[in-house]
Amino acid sequence: MPTRPYVIDEMISAKAIAARIEALCREIQAEFEGTNKLTVVGLLRGSFVFIADLVRELDLPIEVDFLEASSYGDGTESSREVRILKDLRGAIEGRDVLVVEDIVDTGHTLHHVSNLLLSREPARLKTIALLDKPSRREVDMKADWIGFEIPDEFVVGYGIDFAQRNRNLPFIGKVRFTS
Ligand code: PRP
Repeated sequence: MPTRPYVIDEMISAKAIAARIEALCREIQAEFEGTNKLTVVGLLRGSFVFIADLVRELDLPIEVDFLEASSYGDGTESSREVRILKDLRGAIEGRDVLVVEDIVDTGHTLHHVSNLLLSREPARLKTIALLDKPSRREVDMKADWIGFEIPDEFVVGYGIDFAQRNRNLPFIGKVRFTS
């Protein structure tokens, strides 16, 4: 539970997110055109809203799977240790894979997960992140598709939490502490 009072200022509206997802899906469809072996992998928990909207815009035959990785505690600081808390249900060897992430911050989570999934020998592995904070990067990692590049602000909503709260906001907001 958050310990200091705060308010949330809207940063990216639900409408802007929807429009960006539509544009991204056109590019993703061009990349994966003709495939019948695409697995869209959501990284829990943060990507659950993004992947739900993304797959409903994708006119491709897909399977959906989830993997849970964790690099944060209940605060705002990232630790370097990435733990796999829940692995995929399905095999990805020889399949096309699209990894869906809510935010790339230090890059450790996506870096670790990409390497893990690549070791399983998919035919093709691509990554997409709704938000990218390049100023925070600690490892050389960039998603193939990015929704929005943002400055180093503390963001919540659209799946992203502050101490497990605010994931259900329909927009991306910026946390502003009031004391
Ligand atoms: C957050 C976020 C990304 C990751 C990004 O996940 O959802 O997966 O951190 O940080 P990084 O680039 O510094 O690795 P978190 O571990 O908080 O779990 P959650 O998705 O369950 O909120």
